[in-house]
Amino acid sequence: MNITLLAKKGGVGKSTLSILLYEAFRQAGKTVSVHDWDVQGTSSKSMELINGHKAAIDRHDDITIYDTPPNLEHTATATAVRSADIALVVTSPSPADVWEADEAVRFAQGRNPSAAVRVVFNKVRKTTVLGRLVEESAKQVNAPCLPVSLSARECYQHAVAQGWKALDSTAREEVLQLVVALLSLKP
Ligand SMILES: Nc1ncnc2c1ncn2[C@@H]1O[C@H](COP(=O)(O)OP(=O)(O)O)[C@@H](O)[C@H]1O
Ligand SMILES: [Mg+2]
Repeated sequence: MNITLLAKKGGVGKSTLSILLYEAFRQAGKTVSVHDWDVQGTSSKSMELINGHKAAIDRHDDITIYDTPPNLEHTATATAVRSADIALVVTSPSPADVWEADEAVRFAQGRNPSAAVRVVFNKVRKTTVLGRLVEESAKQVNAPCLPVSLSARECYQHAVAQGWKALDSTAREEVLQLVVALLSLKP
């Protein structure tokens, strides 16, 4: 199963989520590879740090995760979306980000009508009126949102360098829930 993470811009957490999903799918007993299409190379550097060697892409893996450039115009983004079973648009729940998330949703739907296009909210602040912000944001996008959001937590910032062991128990639980939600979409 191919999962492509995309967004119109950088900083929303595509690379972080690529690594978190890689780690969590492995925890769930799956074989996984991460394919980094972004020249910035965050997730490929991260894979090297975590595993001590460059990541090999194995087409027989259960799950392939495509991390993409922060740009819908980039050919790599379109290519990765075309090979996706699940196109996962990553966004914060703040209104300006959500408008861009909707553009990414429509982009993915246009490029790959057979993919399951979903939105995932990242960097969610649980202290605010947040339940409501996520709920309101979910109405602004033309695709279903995953029932699991990732909170804004410092430990996620360490995940790219340290992998799973950087995560506290709440973060682990969130990411595993995310994996369950994705596996339930399995085509
Ligand atoms: N849930 C989160 N909580 C806190 N910080 C986060 C979270 N997700 C991502 N970050 C941080 O946000 C920044 C951008 O993340 P990154 O994954 O590089 O985004 P992108 O790949 O979309 O450009 C990084 O510093 C990362 O550590
Ligand atoms: Mg990135």
